[in-house]
Amino acid sequence: MLKNIIQKILFKIDPEKSHELSFTGIRLLSKLPFLQKRLIDPDNILEDPRLAREVFGLKFKHPVGLAAGFDKDAKLYKELGQLGFSFVEIGTVTPKGQSGNPRKRLFRLVEDFAIINRMGFNNDGVEAAKIRLLKREKGLIIGGNIGKNKITPNDKAVEDYLACFEALFEVVDYFVVNVSSPNTPNLRDLQEKAPLLALLKSLQAQNLQHENPKPILLKIAPDLSESQLKEIVEIIDESHIAGIIATNTTIQREGLKSQDRDEMGGLSGAPLTKRSLEVVRFLAKESGGRFPIIGVGGIMSTKDALDQLDAGASLVQLYSGFIYEGPQLIEEINRALLTRLEN
Ligand SMILES: Cc1cc2nc3c(=O)[nH]c(=O)nc-3n(C[C@H](O)[C@H](O)[C@H](O)COP(=O)(O)O)c2cc1C
Repeated sequence: MLKNIIQKILFKIDPEKSHELSFTGIRLLSKLPFLQKRLIDPDNILEDPRLAREVFGLKFKHPVGLAAGFDKDAKLYKELGQLGFSFVEIGTVTPKGQSGNPRKRLFRLVEDFAIINRMGFNNDGVEAAKIRLLKREKGLIIGGNIGKNKITPNDKAVEDYLACFEALFEVVDYFVVNVSSPNTPNLRDLQEKAPLLALLKSLQAQNLQHENPKPILLKIAPDLSESQLKEIVEIIDESHIAGIIATNTTIQREGLKSQDRDEMGGLSGAPLTKRSLEVVRFLAKESGGRFPIIGVGGIMSTKDALDQLDAGASLVQLYSGFIYEGPQLIEEINRALLTRLEN
């Protein structure tokens, strides 16, 4: 009921303004821990030790995290953890701050339970995120999603990724190499075998210079063909990175009803559910479970999350599902997992 009222108000205003407003709302809610507890996890489900799992060497208290792009600048990770996420991925951050594409660049496709965005890596730059993350407390797992500046040509991209990697090394628990956003011109060309292998090998070599290396994951687009996905598995094996996040937003547009359906950018939410699941299932089979996969894309319900985990994902992430269903979805998914264990 409260969710419906808040959502009705937020969905009436410009999506980017409502994103900013929801930041204020989440901050306020986190200042009222008693109310928050009653609204978010009244039965303490999220603390149940049966939900805990260890993935790429990190201990997650349950498998539901927040996908990249919501807290790009690491301004709200603590409060998002208090809302129930077991891990929060900040970013995508780039070496230098950049303003991203001109507004309007975020569209809610309410009739389709979807979002189109062409934000274009708007962020304050990696150093600003680092400063905010220095204040983090233990407990919540933080991922650092890294990218390149728009003005950096692809043949210099490695330098941008390395700069972000080094800057964040001490303040995040795992890294995500984002080469799959459709909103930075030519970024997705870095998903080709030669440049991708070079990029991941450089990052992993740098990683191994550290006494305690961190897990590095690759985030891929849902629009890759089967042969490209096979190549991705080979690349993970050859570069020895820790795993994959599948998937980012899609450039496909099929069967959409909403007015803004032809806006340029990446589509997320319900129209992505089926394709992300296919990609995760394919990667899990093809890799024989040699490395973990985080499933993301169109997880709008408990069923969607369980399908992803059944298909081979070790963890899942929400973005659009969090916007449309609210933080209750985190608790609902975990409740369903516990019910399964009990039956
Ligand atoms: C407004 C918006 C901004 C996003 N920004 C990023 C980003 O900066 N980096 C990234 O890797 N993914 C970004 N994503 C993609 C999400 O992390 C996620 O992969 C995608 O939305 C699919 O999940 P969903 O269907 O649950 O939303 C963004 C998504 C949205 C809707």
